[in-house]
Amino acid sequence: MRLATASQMVAETATAEAHVECAALTRSFPAVNGTGELPVLGPISLSIRRGEFFSVIGPSGCGKSTFMDVLAGLTTPTGGTVRFEDKPVVGGTVPDGIGAVFQQDASLPWLSVWENIAFGLRRRGTDPVEIKRLVDYALGFMGLTPFAHAYPNQLSGGMRQRTCIARTLVMKPRLILLDEPFAALDAQTRLLMGDELLRLWRETNATVVLITHALDEAAMLSDRVGAMSARPGRFIELIETGWSRDRDSTIVSDPGYGALSSRLWSVLRKESMKALDHSLGTEKE
Ligand SMILES: Nc1ncnc2c1ncn2[C@@H]1O[C@H](COP(=O)(O)OP(=O)(O)OP(=O)(O)O)[C@@H](O)[C@H]1O
Ligand SMILES: [Mg+2]
Repeated sequence: MRLATASQMVAETATAEAHVECAALTRSFPAVNGTGELPVLGPISLSIRRGEFFSVIGPSGCGKSTFMDVLAGLTTPTGGTVRFEDKPVVGGTVPDGIGAVFQQDASLPWLSVWENIAFGLRRRGTDPVEIKRLVDYALGFMGLTPFAHAYPNQLSGGMRQRTCIARTLVMKPRLILLDEPFAALDAQTRLLMGDELLRLWRETNATVVLITHALDEAAMLSDRVGAMSARPGRFIELIETGWSRDRDSTIVSDPGYGALSSRLWSVLRKESMKALDHSLGTEKE
């Protein structure tokens, strides 16, 4: 693994303050059979540092998207608290400074790609000249310039997802929440988009919480990876990668990368089997 330089270590110490704090956080939903509550998440007590790139991995259905919804203020915790920049996140509104990219396609079908990306900036009342500059730049780095005037139904799933990522990033959020943003992309594009995301993260000093099912992606991109248990999702391990801030996808040839990916898999293997047993209905009480 790469060693951080002295100046990076100073920068990291200076930014080590908590940006997001979860304390005894839980979320349940009414059980589908109508009897009682289904615990989906937690308890989670976790502090995410300002400027940190934090990834969440965990078996399917363990509560990752629910965790993101709670952090984004889209759903109310059942128990415990979430704080962003020292203010409570209670559900109902997305706090200023948080930008979210969802697992499902959230492009606006009646707007062109250009207008999709400009959507939030227009609502915010940004100056039209600045909107044009930001949107054109975002189209460029997302490789969407030739499709600026296309509509979402004329795009591939990966291109629609890139449109949604661009729409969130132009708002310059201080906390970027990404739920499987690269799932619809091929492996090569995924690596390159990962590089773009790292570049943006460095340029903006934003805090990133990335939910991914791709262990290699988590190993390559993150400062720290949180591995979740099967439902109800709790963090069973928090793994510091030790990468320097100026990393990119060439890290995959670093000997430490292979070791990290296999460590993530060994943490998750048992939990993924548990999750599969749940969904096959073969679990034993
Ligand atoms: N609104 C809801 N009402 C009832 N149950 C819900 C609701 N949202 C999620 N769940 C349940 O909560 C559990 C966790 O769902 P969630 O979408 O958070 O999982 P996930 O880890 O993101 O899964 P995946 O990896 O497949 O995306 C699932 O069992 C799901 O059925
Ligand atoms: Mg999900």
